[in-house]
This record gives sequence, structure tokens and C-alpha cells, in this order.
Amino acid sequence: MQYRSDFLVIGSGLAGLSYALKVAPHGTVNLVTKRGIMDTSTRQAQGGIAAVLSPEDSFDLHVKDTLEAGDGLCHPDIVELVVHQGPERIRELIEMGAHFDLRSMSADSYDLTREGGHSKRRIIHAHDMTGEEVERILVNRVLEHPNIKVFENHIAVDLITRHKLLRRGAVVTNAEESCLGAYVLNIDRGEVETYVAPIILLATGGASKVYIYTSNPDIATGDGVAIAYRAGALIGNMEFVQFHPTCLYHPLAKNFLISEAVRGEGGILIDKRGIPFMEKYHPLKDLAFRDVVARAIDTELKKTGDDCVFLDISHKPADFLRSRFPGIYQKCLDLGIDMTKEPIPVVPAAHYCCGGVVTDAVGRTTIHNLYAIGEVSMTGLHGANRLASNSLLEALVFAHQAAQHSIELLPQMRPLDLSEVLDWNPFGAVDSDENVVVSQNWEEIRRFMWNYVGIVRTDKRLIRAKHRIDLIQQEIDEYYWNFLITSDLVELRNLALVAELIITCALKRKESRGLHYNLDYPHKDEANWQRDTVVSLAR
Ligand code: SIN
Repeated sequence: MQYRSDFLVIGSGLAGLSYALKVAPHGTVNLVTKRGIMDTSTRQAQGGIAAVLSPEDSFDLHVKDTLEAGDGLCHPDIVELVVHQGPERIRELIEMGAHFDLRSMSADSYDLTREGGHSKRRIIHAHDMTGEEVERILVNRVLEHPNIKVFENHIAVDLITRHKLLRRGAVVTNAEESCLGAYVLNIDRGEVETYVAPIILLATGGASKVYIYTSNPDIATGDGVAIAYRAGALIGNMEFVQFHPTCLYHPLAKNFLISEAVRGEGGILIDKRGIPFMEKYHPLKDLAFRDVVARAIDTELKKTGDDCVFLDISHKPADFLRSRFPGIYQKCLDLGIDMTKEPIPVVPAAHYCCGGVVTDAVGRTTIHNLYAIGEVSMTGLHGANRLASNSLLEALVFAHQAAQHSIELLPQMRPLDLSEVLDWNPFGAVDSDENVVVSQNWEEIRRFMWNYVGIVRTDKRLIRAKHRIDLIQQEIDEYYWNFLITSDLVELRNLALVAELIITCALKRKESRGLHYNLDYPHKDEANWQRDTVVSLAR
């Protein structure tokens, strides 16, 4: 089956939906998403969107905070671009109907919260469910749009590139590297379909499922990074994985975040004896940058042998907590924890990938006509560590940038000759009788990534991880080519590749900076390492 459109969007979070809505007046859009349209990381975002919206704040301060968090690796032009566009992009969301919390009943006095590393209150939010609010607004618009067709339960398997077609013997007249579309597994039918388009956008989100403990939903398997890498795009800074300091620690709580806004509103980290410990680690105490707080908790846990630390905000009025954090309050209460009366048990967990598919200021990758925006991308905004709540902002700004650019590019793309595009060929693959290979490798990767490539690294641990991932990839590869593919297998193959890229980048960087902390090189090496770590598939 072949589907054709002017724009192919892969992913249905804030980035993909915003882009789709902006390009749809200029052409047809096919939007594929691997679960339901609302099953995205955006939907789970609690904190909010950072932007300069108060007279006490300034673009310069937001730029400065972002650069400081990024620890020398942010691209300053991109930081300026994103920060300056912030208020306009937020206004667009409000015009579409998004409701953010107000400070008073006056219509434009928004309640701005604080998170780690922000020198001012600048995070606009919808209680503690900001992602849910913006996702809902955009999904409604997308589903109503006559030019957008949504394909749920469709997972992209690989991009179709000209060089791949050349290798497979098809006749192509122009060998310039570009993308013709994607092979997409229709999960319900178990068939791989062909989607062709002159403009392709990756907005597939992050990869934190590569770690056993994560705040991310199950979809975060790094699909976009993996397929872009296999297609030959440059990938950068994969060693910079952000660990959120405070995920709920409870056997029945899967991936539940306790927003940094809880510390922004006065929450204090304490050990099981009730003693606050952040003052030992940083003058900003509980509102230090995330890498500092996550490492401090890791150190405390290793020192004491405790399973978790605690986040205490019970000193604040109960009514305030219930109305400011209704989602967190209810989730904790369901598990028998009343945050208005007692501290919440928390541990760090993998939360955000600062690295990804390398793009320019309009979201274009190193492959002509392939764009990447949102968490899948590495635009240069986050550098070595992302400032809290800058990611939804980045998704909005780059959706706008990429949309403007691709609308201009569309008429310049020569019409596709569909006979160039070969349909997927399973090459005699049969149904697997050994799905245990998938579950075994899935489990193993996520565990050794946590133990060897986690918050604190050493070369020895990284090399151990490299040996393991090499073996596992060999096994997955054999399996992949012999058996009919399933979405679990597609995700496993992607997860393994992303793990390999994180390990490779981490081994390359011989220093500690931002989120990458290696005990063998505990200091920053400005002379040699004030640069991005870039990798690509050698052809
Ligand atoms: C949070 O609410 O703590 C997460 C916000 C973010 O990761 O930007």
C-alpha cells in the first residue's frame, strides 16, 4: 500500500502537531503516530513552558540562564532565537484556546512558576498538567483539519533515501541525498506500508526508555534518532541524558514525575532522617541545575544505602497544594501518600535527551528535505544540560521555523516519480516463534544502561556497556532480517541503536560537563572539548 502527501509528519506530540497545523494550509499532510494520537511525552509534561512574560524578566536573563545550564555547549544564536520567539509562540497557543493558570482574575496576569536554574519566575503552566492542556487543544484542531490525515498505531520502520534505493538497484536520476518517504508498519494489520512525500518531518520525541528507571512514557524509544542515523543523518551530543531528580518512588508508580515546580514552590529534599542535604552541594540548594541535584541524590543514596530520598512541601497550606498540584496530589493520594501532610519518596530517573538529530536554525537535518524538531533533535538550544521547561518552548519555536522553511521548499521539490520508490520487501521473513529474544534484550539493555551509563560514569563501565551492546545488536540484527517485523522488534532495534550512540558519544568525551559526568575525567576540558560530539553512519 502506498500513501502520498505533500508533508509526512512522524509523531504527534507538541512539535509534530504544531508543525502539521502550520503547513496544512499549504498542502496535504499525512501524520503517522505509533500509538494513539494523545500517547506522547508532551501529554505527560507537568512543569510548563518557559518564556519571558513578566515585566520583571528579560530576554537577556532567559538567555543567560539557558547558557549557564548548557555549560558551554549551547549555540548562542539558537538560544537567542528561541528565547525571543517565546512570547509570540505562547500567544498563538492561547489564541487557539489553551488555558494557563492566572495569578488573579485579570485575563493576562499569568501565574508564572519557577524551576531549577531560572533566575526569575517565567514558567507558564496549566496547574501541573500543562502538556495535557496543549496536547488536547492541538489534537482537536488537527483532527478537524481537512488537509491532515492521521494514522494511529503506525510506527515508522525506516526512511526511504535515494542512496538506499541506489544500493538496492533501483534506477534514480539524481543521487543527491534526500528522503523520499518512510516505510511504516501498520501495527493492526501487521503490514509495512510506503509513505511518500517531498517533505518529511521527524517529531518522534525522546529515548529515555533506554534506561530502566525513567519518567518517560513507553513510546520514548528513540525511533527518530535511530531511523535518521540509519539514513545517514548526523547525530550529536547523545551522551547528554538528563536525569530528573524527583520521580515518585513507589512499587505501583510507573514513570511518575514529581514536577520540579514542587521545589520551585518551596519543596525541600530531605533524607529519611528528615535532614535537608542540598545545601552541602550547591548555593542554590534545591533549585540548583538538574544535573547537580540528580548527582547529589545519587551520592546520598550511595552513601547511605537508602532506596530513596524525600521531597517535603507539607509546610505549605494544604489548599494551595491541592489547587496548584492537583495531578501530583491525587496520584500520591491514590498510593497512600498525602503530600499535604508527609514527604514524598523520590529517586532520579532518565528524563530527557539533550542530544539527537543535528539540525540548523530551521530544523533541517543534514539530509535534504528531512526536518527534525522537538526532543528528537539537537538544535543547539540545550547544550550539555537543558534548562527546565525550555523543551516545550523549543518544540513550539522549531515547529514554526521548520514550517516556514518547508512551505518555501515545497514548490522547489521536483515531483516524485513513484516508480522510484520500491515497496517494502520482507525477503522471505517468517513469523517468529521466539519472542523471548525481544523481551530478554529489552530488559538487559535498559538495566546495563542504568548501571554503566547512568548519572555517574567511568571509562571501565562504558567499555563494559559497549561490549554488551555490540553482542546484543548482532543478535537483534540476525533476528530482524529473518522474522516478520513487529512494533516490539522495531522499538528494540531502535533502542539498541540509541544505546550504542549514547555509549559511543560518552566514550568520546574525555571530560565531565553538564549531564555527562565521568569519574576518570572529573573536570571540564575547555581547550579540547568545548564542542559537540557528532557521529554518523560511515558509508
Ligand atoms: C518538571 O515538571 O519537573 C519537568 C519539566 C521539564 O522537564 O522541563
